[in-house]
Amino acid sequence: MARTKPISAFLFIFFAIFTFSGDGESQSFSRVLSLGAKRLKREKMSHLHFYFHDILSGRNPTAIRVAEAPSTKKSPTEFGIVMMIDDLLTERPEATSKLVGKAQGFYASASQSELGLLMTLNFVFLEGKYNGSTLSMVGRNPVMEEVREMPVVGGSGIFRFARGYAHAKTHWLDPSTGDAVVEYNVYVIHY
Ligand SMILES: *[C@@H]1O[C@H](CO)[C@@H](O)[C@H](O)[C@H]1NC(C)=O
Repeated sequence: MARTKPISAFLFIFFAIFTFSGDGESQSFSRVLSLGAKRLKREKMSHLHFYFHDILSGRNPTAIRVAEAPSTKKSPTEFGIVMMIDDLLTERPEATSKLVGKAQGFYASASQSELGLLMTLNFVFLEGKYNGSTLSMVGRNPVMEEVREMPVVGGSGIFRFARGYAHAKTHWLDPSTGDAVVEYNVYVIHY
């Protein structure tokens, strides 16, 4: 009988590994579903456009200081300050225009050399089929730049499996109070 050629031995091992590796195997605590079964076959992209009202002043601020470091007051960038927000999202720049959602979370000064915020927040939408669905955004916001891009890392409800990005552009800013209206364009891929 002919010797086993090295190449066939190699192929046998290759197929053995391929066939018996864990891919596609279920465990007692997990199972593998096909995307079709969950109606996750067709991805689409949504573009959302709204205005974000970050109000620090007055009797009903929507952004409040919750923490700072002993050195924050001496820092030109307020390094270390943490603001918790529950900001209105509206269809038009006017705060009285139609409410489409809220931005809930916090932002913090994370740069000592320029105004650079860490943004960690959820957009929760309140309109029609979007009511209750959320998008989670985490990113760096160099607020003095014209357009800041931040990643959208996930979502819930209509936005399950979402990923994408947000472009933030300051529409209006009161330098004395810090109150601002920021225009957001958000592009997300989801099912
Ligand atoms: C959104 O859902 C909440 C409760 O889930 C409901 O009270 C509210 O009326 C809904 N809003 C709209 C605009 O459908």
